[in-house]
Amino acid sequence: MTPTTPPSPSSSLSTGAHDIRSAELAPGGRDRIEWAMRAMPALASIRERFARDRPLAGARISACMHVTTETAALVRTLVAGGAEVRLCASNPLSTQDDVAAALAVDDGIGMFAIAGEDRDTYYRHLRQALEHRPHVIMDDGADLTTLVHTTESALGAAIVGGTEETTTGVARLRGMAADGVLRFGMIAVNDADTKHLFDNRYGTGQSTIDAFMRATNRLLAGRVFVVCGFGWCGRGVAARAAGMGARVIVTEIDPTRALEAVMEGYQVLPMASAAAIGDFFCTVTGNRDVIRREHFAAMKDGAIVANAGHFDVELDLPALAELSVSRRELRRSLEQFTLVDGRRIHVLAEGRLVNLGAAEGHPADVMDLSFAAQALAAEHVFARGEPLAPGVHALPKALDQQVARLELDAMGIEIDALTPAQTRYLCSWRSGT
Ligand code: ADE
Repeated sequence: MTPTTPPSPSSSLSTGAHDIRSAELAPGGRDRIEWAMRAMPALASIRERFARDRPLAGARISACMHVTTETAALVRTLVAGGAEVRLCASNPLSTQDDVAAALAVDDGIGMFAIAGEDRDTYYRHLRQALEHRPHVIMDDGADLTTLVHTTESALGAAIVGGTEETTTGVARLRGMAADGVLRFGMIAVNDADTKHLFDNRYGTGQSTIDAFMRATNRLLAGRVFVVCGFGWCGRGVAARAAGMGARVIVTEIDPTRALEAVMEGYQVLPMASAAAIGDFFCTVTGNRDVIRREHFAAMKDGAIVANAGHFDVELDLPALAELSVSRRELRRSLEQFTLVDGRRIHVLAEGRLVNLGAAEGHPADVMDLSFAAQALAAEHVFARGEPLAPGVHALPKALDQQVARLELDAMGIEIDALTPAQTRYLCSWRSGT
């Protein structure tokens, strides 16, 4: 979805308990959720505690997340804590319809998501997820937060706070706070160490390469792979592309990040130079118009282009369409654009988040960390007894470290503890050379 103003509410708001592709898909979703949950031990231990202590009893939560097996595990954790949850998709392409069916049929979740939904349906689903008038919202990209600050403010009247999953969403929230419009507190889960250092880097790295492979079945070894943006996600993609034997080129606008990329051993070039060299291109910047008309015009015949940033604005696809004489879907998740001179450029997953559009998103093992942090953040927002102050808040350090400890415990890994003398030393200044 593009981060533009949402369409105004339609008069035919459905009040149904769910809107999903088909309830008959539930058995397949059930099995896949079970498989994912086996790789999410930190979340499992939080779920056990939630089931005992019920810290979310009475909470109504509206979540706008990618509807995946891993999100299902998070939803079950919130429900175990006593919450009533409604869930809609945070991207029109990322919904796993079998998971949506299992959550609706087996768990009785208010489920509003269908893979491939159009923009109007996407926003109708967001409104339906809000119709139980949540106390807490859980967002991934800030579309839900934007909605309760624009056309659906009445549905957001009971909100005491929320959580935000992704870099782009946190940037939007900071924009809202800077404009003085953010009415409640939001925890920037993305900024927790146990989130972005792992999910953004290893999760995006693996799932993006997975998507390129599923959509193209092409060999990466020996090819030139251009990564646009060297944030945590970009460095994950670059590392994994290099691990597959690709020759990686990084493009950046930030001098420090560009220098880091150089020292990691990557070639750094402006996009204008990289465009003519790359076999594969992946944008991961969070910004718009990263690959533009002049770049498409310079690409080699056969170039493969995708976006792993949150919104589908990083590739200027209208410009590519204008340069093209024809376009057609050649394989699942792969559209071929033919330029006037016969060169063919291939776009994966319509330029939307490729790792969720052409693959299954991050593996459960890494989402365990992100969603353990989400569960603790939701508890922090609801169970502290008073609303968060309006603004963007960090996940408290103690909760961030709790997530890391739960994961280490599950892995059976022990670490050292500071001695009392070491603790004193770290706070002292008298002893030096
Ligand atoms: N974002 C990236 N990967 C995801 C997944 N597997 N589930 C939910 N959100 C995600």
